Amino acid sequence: MKIKNKSFSDKSKKWLKRHLEDEYVIKSSKDNFRSRAAYKLIEIIEKYRLLDGSEKALDIGSAPGSWSEVLKSRGKNLKKIVALDLLDMNPIRNVDVYKVDFLSDKCSKILAKYDKFDLIVSDISPNLSGNRSSDFLLSLELLENVVDFALKELKPGGNMVSKYFRSGDISEVILTCKKHFKKVTTFKPKSSRKESSEIYLVCLEKKSPID
Ligand SMILES: C[S@@+](CC[C@H](N)C(=O)[O-])C[C@H]1O[C@@H](n2cnc3c(N)ncnc32)[C@H](O)[C@@H]1O
Repeated sequence: MKIKNKSFSDKSKKWLKRHLEDEYVIKSSKDNFRSRAAYKLIEIIEKYRLLDGSEKALDIGSAPGSWSEVLKSRGKNLKKIVALDLLDMNPIRNVDVYKVDFLSDKCSKILAKYDKFDLIVSDISPNLSGNRSSDFLLSLELLENVVDFALKELKPGGNMVSKYFRSGDISEVILTCKKHFKKVTTFKPKSSRKESSEIYLVCLEKKSPID
């Protein structure tokens, strides 16, 4: 595909061409998903059977909404889906959407009315600067916050998925997760671009205090 518009720089043209030719971008428009990110969650939930037995799911960093769309279309047993983002997100039928920072007190108050969740998924990215070491620290801090949050909001037996960036050592976070979950692993979906350092931490079956 040739992009002829002169107002685009060569770099933007290259990005746009790659985007428009991307198989998951084409597929997402056919399947009516809001973004290609949908296929990453589909791969993760299929591989780890995350929706079997899940009745309540929470999507943090949910905008524009394709992960919530996947939870809704694939989660036949889900009775409640809650989505949170700092940004506005267009509504999805039967999904409770909130514009809120997942780390805020306002968010804790909102979630108090839902009780605990069976599944928490996070596709949140920090605002990356391009500086490898400071970006790694930001990504690590975010991952630690997501894990702490999930430990507070998940039911015993619940599962968690969180994006992080493979640019440094996260062994301490993995160690914490292994204390609290029966199985901890990482997974790079095929639909995640090869050149991206993003990868997903998957924590299965939160232990109960007597485990
Ligand atoms: C990569 S996008 C998520 C895409 C989404 N999974 C989808 O499929 O449509 C990451 C989102 O995380 C949100 N985010 C970043 N920090 C956040 C925070 N502290 N609380 C809530 N959302 C946050 C951003 O606003 C952004 O919309």
